[in-house]
Amino acid sequence: MNILVAGGAGYIGSHTCVELLNAGHEVICVDNLLNSKYEAIRRVELITGKKVKFYRIDLTNYEESKIVFEENHIDGIIHFAGLKCVPESISVPLKYYQNNIDSTFTLVRLMKEYNVRNLVFSSSATVYGNPLKLPITEDDPIGNTTNPYGTTKYFIEKILMDICKVDNTLNVAILRYFNPVGAHPSGLIGEDPNGIPNNLVPYVTQVAIGKRPYLKVTGNDYDTIDGTGVRDYIHICDLAYGHVLALNKLVTNCGLVIYNLGTGKGNSVMEVVRAFDKIVGHEIPYKVVERRVGDIATCYADPTKAYKELGFKAKYSIEDMAKDAWNWQQKNPNGYEE
Ligand code: NAD
Ligand code: UFG
Repeated sequence: MNILVAGGAGYIGSHTCVELLNAGHEVICVDNLLNSKYEAIRRVELITGKKVKFYRIDLTNYEESKIVFEENHIDGIIHFAGLKCVPESISVPLKYYQNNIDSTFTLVRLMKEYNVRNLVFSSSATVYGNPLKLPITEDDPIGNTTNPYGTTKYFIEKILMDICKVDNTLNVAILRYFNPVGAHPSGLIGEDPNGIPNNLVPYVTQVAIGKRPYLKVTGNDYDTIDGTGVRDYIHICDLAYGHVLALNKLVTNCGLVIYNLGTGKGNSVMEVVRAFDKIVGHEIPYKVVERRVGDIATCYADPTKAYKELGFKAKYSIEDMAKDAWNWQQKNPNGYEE
C-alpha cells in the first residue's frame, strides 16, 4: 500500500517507516522538521535499501498539504505529526492545541476530499490520566488528563470517534502508546531530543556518556516496589511494528478500533537504571529529587486486546531496550548532527 506517514522523520515515525518499507509498503513522508532532521529519513533509506518520498510541509497548512494528495495515490495515513513536550505544553498551551489539532483537521479533511479511508492515530496512555485500576484496558475512562499535551490527544480521539459515527466507510485505529524507548538495533536511527531530555531513557544515556553529571530520580516515595515511578516501557521497534499490524486490521474495514500498545509489564525507574548499569558496564550516578508535578505512581497496559485482534506481542526486554538505546547514544553522541 502507499502510506502517508505524517511526522515520519521523528522518533517513532522513522522507526515505523523502516517497518513499513520492510513489510513491502511504499512510504510518503510529510514532516515540517520542527522536531526532527532529514538525516533520519536518509538513514531509514540506508537501513532498508528503499526510497522514501519526502515532503517538507507543515500539516497545519491545508493548501500545501493538498499537494501531497494531488501527487500521490494514498491508501492509508499514519498520523504522528504533533508536538509532545509535556512541560512546554503547560507553558504554551495554545501552540499545542493549534498544532496538534489543526494538523489533524488538515488530514481528515483531505482524507474526505481524496477518498482515503484508513487512518492510524498516535495517541498516548496519557489520555487515561491517573488510572483507576491496573493494568489499564482500552475501555477504562479517558479524559482526566493532567496537561494540555494530553488534552490534545483526548480531543483528537473524540474528534475521530465523532466523525466515524457518521461515516461508516472510515477505518481509524487509535493507538495508545505506553513508554516507547530504545533504538533500531543498527544504531542508525534513535531518539534525538532537543536540549535537556524530559524523558527518563534519553536522560540516562546522556549521563552514561558523560554529557550530564547524574540522573535526577524524580521521587522515591511512591507506593511502588522501590518507591520510584513504574511505567510500561516498550521497545521502539516493537511499537513501530504495531503500526504495520494496525494497517492490516484497517483494510478489513473494521471502522474505529482502539488499542493499547505496551508490554503489560511495569518497571520502576531504579529497575531501568540497573538495566543500564549492566549494559554500560558501570553504575549510572543518580540523586533522588522532588516528584515531578503531574506524575503518577504506576502505569502499565493490558495488551490483551492488541494481541487478540492484531496479533501484536512485544518481543524485546528492558535489557534489549537499554542495549539499543546505549548503542544509538554511543554511535551518535550528538544525535543526527546535520
Ligand atoms: P517526534 O517529535 O520525534 O516526532 C513528531 C514529528 O512530527 C516530528 O518529526 C515533527 O517535526 C513533526 N511535526 C510536528 N508538527 C508538525 C506539523 N504541523 N506538520 C508536519 N510535521 C509536524 O515525536 P515522537 O516521539 O516520534 O512521537 C510521535 C507521535 O506519537 C506524536 O504525536 C506523539 O505525541 C505521540 N506519542 C509519543 C510518545 C513518546 O513517548 N515518544 C508517547 C505517546 C504518544
Ligand atoms: N523520571 C526520572 N527522571 C527523569 C525523567 C523521568 O526519574 O529525568 C521518571 C518519571 O518520574 C517517571 C519515569 O521516569 O516515573 C518515566 O518518565 P518519562 O518522562 O520518561 O515518561 P512519562 O511516563 O512521564 O511520559 C511519557 C511521555 C508522555 C506520554 C507518556 C505515556 O513523555 O508524552 O509517556 O505514553 F504521554
